[in-house]
Amino acid sequence: MFLDQLNWRYATKKMDPAKSVPEEKVAQIVEAIRMAPTSSGVQPFELFVIRNDKIREAIRAVAWDQAQITDGSHLLVFASWDNYTEARIDAVLEQLEEERGESELLTNYYTNLKGMLLPRSAEENAAHAAHQAYISLGFALAAAAELSVDSTPMEGFDPAQVDEILGLKEKGLRAKSMLALGYRQEEGDWLLPMKKVRKSTEALVTEIN
Ligand SMILES: Cc1cc2nc3c(=O)[nH]c(=O)nc-3n(C[C@H](O)[C@H](O)[C@H](O)COP(=O)(O)O)c2cc1C
Repeated sequence: MFLDQLNWRYATKKMDPAKSVPEEKVAQIVEAIRMAPTSSGVQPFELFVIRNDKIREAIRAVAWDQAQITDGSHLLVFASWDNYTEARIDAVLEQLEEERGESELLTNYYTNLKGMLLPRSAEENAAHAAHQAYISLGFALAAAAELSVDSTPMEGFDPAQVDEILGLKEKGLRAKSMLALGYRQEEGDWLLPMKKVRKSTEALVTEIN
């Protein structure tokens, strides 16, 4: 059951370097990311699926030496737009028009959206874009769990250096989070035997009836 899998998953601290996640499972996790909802359907981020050992070693060196980056078999990097631009929003509208047909409603919606987003500061827009990328990180975490693939979500890295390694700045992108994928190595993972700790439902939820 899905909730059992969410309880099974944990932010894996030690991955088994001898095990690789099969490509068809990676493809399903990527598909879950592609299916994640975003504000106005803009999808303001790109995903980097990194198998290359040298690149993962370089990223590990600017990510607190976190071993899961190289002990896992795949590293996903979520990189969101550094700003909203007219061209970027127009491309979204164009695809919608191609796939759903043109309509005044659609044109007006995206004209209004540009009116709202384009005058804002790049920082505000970059933060908004990053929020959308985080939703897809959540989808990836859940999809990996569903497929019994271990993963470690990560913000513990120097984003400017990861941008540099992947050449993201030139593409108007910024690395926001990463997800290492692999299989847990039971001996050597201090977190595995520990109880999962969460707020109580009462502390989390206010029921308004
Ligand atoms: C956005 C985000 C960033 C995180 N960054 C790191 C990280 O850099 N390294 C790490 O080992 N764990 C990282 N974690 C894992 C959290 O510490 C972990 O998810 C949390 O303590 C809950 O534990 P659980 O995931 O094992 O249930 C991150 C989690 C999230 C959601």
